[in-house]
Amino acid sequence: MQIRRRRGWEIPEREATPEAVHADRRRLVKAIAAGSMLGAGALAARPASAFLGFGGDRQVAASNDPTAGLYPVKRNERYALDRPLTDEVQATTYNNFYEFGSHKQISRAAQRLPLRPWTVRIDGMVEEPRTVDFDTLIRAMPLEERVYRMRCVEAWAMAVPWSGFQLSHLVAYAKPLSGARYVVFTTFGSNEISPGTATGLRQSWYPWPYVDGCSMAEANNEMSFIATGLYGKPIPAQNGAPLRLVLPWKYGFKGVKSIVRVHFTDRRPISFWEQVQGSEYGFWANVNPAVPHPRWSQANERMLGSGEMRPTQIYNGYGEFVAGLYEDLKGEKLYM
Ligand code: MTE
Repeated sequence: MQIRRRRGWEIPEREATPEAVHADRRRLVKAIAAGSMLGAGALAARPASAFLGFGGDRQVAASNDPTAGLYPVKRNERYALDRPLTDEVQATTYNNFYEFGSHKQISRAAQRLPLRPWTVRIDGMVEEPRTVDFDTLIRAMPLEERVYRMRCVEAWAMAVPWSGFQLSHLVAYAKPLSGARYVVFTTFGSNEISPGTATGLRQSWYPWPYVDGCSMAEANNEMSFIATGLYGKPIPAQNGAPLRLVLPWKYGFKGVKSIVRVHFTDRRPISFWEQVQGSEYGFWANVNPAVPHPRWSQANERMLGSGEMRPTQIYNGYGEFVAGLYEDLKGEKLYM
């Protein structure tokens, strides 16, 4: 056996690095080793068939959805697309939903998510914290359809018709206090369902539950949307049923799925992916083709289904609506 003597300058990483950072790196290494890090080998290693969703599970129709009769809802024509809609099968069978696994073919597994009863806790800096049943909440909101582009940080993209309501209506419903500066959205975790239902929750190196958030100004921007439907029907489990966040000028990981809690606070939240790897994923995460991810370029995007490559646009093409939000935030890391 060869015994290697350490030279004076070769100290173990744990001695060179504060414990918290070291623990985070351990988590990262474990996640990468398990092939489950967001975007690990995002583009290069992936066969074309994966982008096309071939071989993936087919969408399982949602039956007995008490909101099915609410759809389709009227399209808001203010938001126009510069590209064809993504095929529904592609958008509903090529997903990121790590609670169900760290690969894209989770659509069948996600059908195990019990969608009723479903309540949303509204708390933190609000006039009165409350828990509202989803079927009550959706009927209190003005529903509309919007066709939006969506850009994943992994450089794939889609264009889909979401149904739901502008997030500002939920903010008004929640009655936040004037000191609230951020809204934090949380997905179900093992407090709500058993990890046997969503086996990704057993991957203990991830900081469950999935959380992310935005500033109050962003939440009240007209583009910010809560999706309850997709392609004129209730949104399928794999896309974030019964309600998910859609911030179309940001990378898709900001779009928290299957929300159980909406929390108002004066402290900036640390998102799920920021906890996993803060050097790669930040709070603002606005789409910008000129700012590469540390491991790949963001200059172009590949459309799900067609495989067509398109140049990525600043703020995913929504700058006219959102650029003003960032004018006073010049010192911040706005694009990651
Ligand atoms: N929300 C939860 N709870 N869990 C996740 O793993 N993945 C995010 C986001 N929301 C994710 C999530 C990422 S990385 C992306 S790109 C989008 O969901 C994917 O949404 P889609 O599957 O509807 O295309």
